[in-house]
Amino acid sequence: MTNLSGRNIISFDDLSIDDVLSIFETADEINADPKKFFGHASGRIASTLFYEPSTRTRLSFESSMQRLGGGVISAWDVNASSASKGESLADTVRVVSSYSDIMIIRHPWEGAVKLAAEYSQVPVINAGDGKHEHPTQTLCDLYTLRERHGSLEGLNVAICGDLSNGRTVHSLAFALARFGSNIIFVPGDGNDIPDYVLRRLERDYKAHIQKEGLGILKALFNSESPTETGSSINAIYVTPKEPHQLAMSSLEGNTVDFNIPEGESLSLYVTRRQTERGSIEINKGDYPFLDEKALSSSSFKDVSILHPLPRVDEVSPEVDQDPRSLYFRQAAVGIPIRMALMLHLLGSTDVENKKEKVFNSGQFSGVKYARSDFVCSNETCISNKETQFSKPAYEIVKDKQYKLRCLYCDFETICDLVGNIESKFFYSTELLDRFLPTVLLENVRFFRSDEEAKLAGFKKASDRWNKLQWKTGRNSRDWIETITE
Ligand code: NCD
Repeated sequence: MTNLSGRNIISFDDLSIDDVLSIFETADEINADPKKFFGHASGRIASTLFYEPSTRTRLSFESSMQRLGGGVISAWDVNASSASKGESLADTVRVVSSYSDIMIIRHPWEGAVKLAAEYSQVPVINAGDGKHEHPTQTLCDLYTLRERHGSLEGLNVAICGDLSNGRTVHSLAFALARFGSNIIFVPGDGNDIPDYVLRRLERDYKAHIQKEGLGILKALFNSESPTETGSSINAIYVTPKEPHQLAMSSLEGNTVDFNIPEGESLSLYVTRRQTERGSIEINKGDYPFLDEKALSSSSFKDVSILHPLPRVDEVSPEVDQDPRSLYFRQAAVGIPIRMALMLHLLGSTDVENKKEKVFNSGQFSGVKYARSDFVCSNETCISNKETQFSKPAYEIVKDKQYKLRCLYCDFETICDLVGNIESKFFYSTELLDRFLPTVLLENVRFFRSDEEAKLAGFKKASDRWNKLQWKTGRNSRDWIETITE
């Protein structure tokens, strides 16, 4: 039985497939008879702490709690809260969580809501942390897609626009991969999907990733662009099929043009430029958008059009009345979805779910590198902002290079150098596989430059080590073998 009671929802990964289906089941019941649920959260209070603007997310959470018969306290204007006096997020959360039974937080820094959960006494929901994740928007997206297509399996969803900074994009990609849908990334100029997202799709979801020509998706761009202006926008096609051999290498060559096989559906998930996070300005560079003309393409006859909203200029109002447009429905389902989610987290749903919970929330099986002296390379990661309150920790991951994945913001920092605190020597990570099996994990230090290693008191090992073949099978062979590749 799914039991979400008391859980934090920071990433979409905090929900198993069964959890999602169980939330949808409750949302279906709410949809059928919303009034039946009034009073299910009576005496409970939700606090909404919004350090960034919001319309849909905050108001739908607040409306949902009130429809459940609970109360709401809200700090949505940071200038009117103690944050403007320099109060840390950690302190604010400690206080506000003692005033409420559930907290909903939006914050401009990646990992902020995870840090908040470390200090909260009550369940915390991520309503968007910087450019990282927005899991409850994804629940609305999936619910809308399921409503339209009957299932989430085997869908083709083209996620278009600002893929680098759009947090809804990242959560949605992980969710679609989990449900076995195909994802097609169609970025605006310079707004590519971050590498760490692609790698996670490969590593954790065993997805197959392939670069394709835009094909039928060219209709999303102005007629003379992007190909005629020399822009190099391509589609990245992610399919959950395994086994596969090509992996990232298939990103290197341009292969076939994207097309949808006869009888399969296509959904277009369009997003705005996140200019507040440094995205290129409107009217600069190629950017996918939808208007009547684009939609008149015969390939788009049966598409579904989604958008997390707000829109700026990427979906023309002329398509609002088009039956293919689902974005206002997507916003409206925010009520049953958020009512259902809060009921589950507060532990007050009567819905029985017979299925086994298979996903272990917030866990990873890799190798942890918990060192507060290693600084996450993402400047807007909460660990670089609230240094007194965060506890930086990383997962050691490896593909072509060794990387440390920040457990707050998921960004990966490439580490080309590694040191041994016993010898105080540092050397290239190319030696890692040969050398480190002889070194205990607690004696290992990662560095990204010579300067950083020297500042930490390490000396560069001589080149002759490169030729040395170490015996394997000593001390700690086991830890290096468990690194996620
Ligand atoms: C999104 C967000 O805040 O990330 N809005 C929302 O919650 N529906 C999308 C956006 O701001 O572009």
